[in-house]
Amino acid sequence: MTMRVAVALSGRGSNLEALLRALGPDAPARVVLVLSNRADAGALARAAAHGVPTEVLADPSDATEWLRRLGDSAVDLVVLAGYLTLVPPGVIARYRGRILNVHPALLPAFGGKGMYGHRVHAAVLASGARESGATVHLVDEVYDRGAILAQARVPVLPGDDADRLAARVLELEHRLLPAVVLAAAAAGHPVPLPETVESQP
Ligand code: GRF
Repeated sequence: MTMRVAVALSGRGSNLEALLRALGPDAPARVVLVLSNRADAGALARAAAHGVPTEVLADPSDATEWLRRLGDSAVDLVVLAGYLTLVPPGVIARYRGRILNVHPALLPAFGGKGMYGHRVHAAVLASGARESGATVHLVDEVYDRGAILAQARVPVLPGDDADRLAARVLELEHRLLPAVVLAAAAAGHPVPLPETVESQP
């Protein structure tokens, strides 16, 4: 049975694009809905270009609206891919263990409220860390706290700034997130993946 996936996002949607490209017509998972809290999210056009239905949440804090939209599309798995607002607790409760998030650092470090986008990479650089990476984890009621399902690492290189590090991590996210979704589809529910380490460029 095909796993029906909703992707929630707020911005450009490069992870959505990577997921859509990874899930060919015969894949065991299919993106059936894209939800955004922002009408101006660039990802909405990407989704439409792939023929994926999109919805802009009238009130992102309203669990009833979320649950109606997810239910109408018979969604099995929710993927947060650059969704920058808290998912209502009523949604977490209903879909517990079936909501994933991708984060551009090695959680539990460099996560939590307000840690998104370039702030994450700037904090990694400021810390002097020698490596960073991407994390896919289950979502619970607290930002970036849920059980980690998969991580992959990249080196922090001499001369890196937040842009360079972000680009290196993003490329990793684009492979890690589809891998986790495909593994979830194969198992029927999200499962942990073995850690991968990127070789030096
Ligand atoms: C990614 O870095 C993701 O880890 C974070 O937000 C960013 C979204 O990028 N949660 P995009 O919209 O998928 O391009």
